[in-house]
Amino acid sequence: MVSLRSDSPARSRAPVLVAGATGFLGRSVVRAISRTGIEVRGLVRDPRKQELVREDGGIPVSGDVLDVPSLRRALAGCGAVIQLAANPPPPTDPARVRVEGTQNIATAARREGVGRLVIGSGYWVYRGQAELIREDSPVDPRGESRLNYDAERAGLEANSPGDLEVLVVRPGMVYGNGSWFRDFAQAIGAGEYQVVGGGANRWSFVERGDAGTAFRAILESGMGAEVYNVVDGHPAPLRDFADLVAAELGAPSPPNLSLREAAHEMGEVITHHLAADRPTSADKLKALGWKPYFSSVQDGVPGLLREMFPRGASNAPLGPTG
Ligand SMILES: NC(=O)c1ccc[n+]([C@@H]2O[C@H](COP(=O)([O-])OP(=O)(O)OC[C@H]3O[C@@H](n4cnc5c(N)ncnc54)[C@H](OP(=O)(O)O)[C@@H]3O)[C@@H](O)[C@H]2O)c1
Repeated sequence: MVSLRSDSPARSRAPVLVAGATGFLGRSVVRAISRTGIEVRGLVRDPRKQELVREDGGIPVSGDVLDVPSLRRALAGCGAVIQLAANPPPPTDPARVRVEGTQNIATAARREGVGRLVIGSGYWVYRGQAELIREDSPVDPRGESRLNYDAERAGLEANSPGDLEVLVVRPGMVYGNGSWFRDFAQAIGAGEYQVVGGGANRWSFVERGDAGTAFRAILESGMGAEVYNVVDGHPAPLRDFADLVAAELGAPSPPNLSLREAAHEMGEVITHHLAADRPTSADKLKALGWKPYFSSVQDGVPGLLREMFPRGASNAPLGPTG
């Protein structure tokens, strides 16, 4: 159980707004916070997605991070807001949703007297390094991680102690039934995945439900103007991770793809991210009292894959000859 700071807005049990509430990460955050009995409002653009927020224990509220009046209505009476809006469908520029959206949320939060803004970013902003990555390690945001980094900056510029406290959260690779992990597992099961580079580079992970409880812990107990990594604390080499998934699916170990070929096929930026060594520390988060339910991918991935692809189910990935 996390201890609450005496001045924490969450301590007042005031409602919390989640922007991006219908997304992969946002849904786990809505679930984790609503389970504590706090009212969670999920910002929804498309009325057809309201049911998702209700399923997760939240209350859907209409709004868009590019529309300040709608944010002010959604934030009225809230103690905190979490920004996880991202990846809008075309033609909206994703940078607008991440950066301008964060600025809009900060503006609306200040006008409505909301005390806390938590910005979801990602650990891809860090430069790869062999030593353990901590929150003050060097960054080198490229490609999509540039948007997350710019959103962090936009939020932190609005940090104003005693008025609006802004916190930044950098999850590692969040695995669960959806997002990149579903594509990864499908590709491995179909014999179509290739490990970029030698595969000795380490990725850092956190299970999706654990990511939700981490956001809750940071919301309740984190310090304003601080950055928190959200990882399980057990980084794994990409080769071991891919082989773990392959073994669980009964698929062959995926072959390697040289960096040169990868850059040709998927571009320099993606290749750089996939091959970067990012062993990341969870010490700062764990010091808030957070403990992951799944301590490592070895612990969390086998059960998840059984749930995603029950044996004999029609959604099971096709084998390489299937
Ligand atoms: N997935 C991961 O493993 C992971 C790991 C680390 C960091 N992150 C970061 O976490 C953030 C969220 O990622 P995700 O995977 O949860 O993304 P996602 O599944 O694509 O969800 C994005 C959410 O943003 C909403 N949204 C888009 N445009 C909006 C707007 N104009 N106003 C309000 N809401 C809007 C979407 O709503 P609609 O459904 O209406 O489009 C959806 O709910 C991103 O910054 C990502 O880089 C993700």
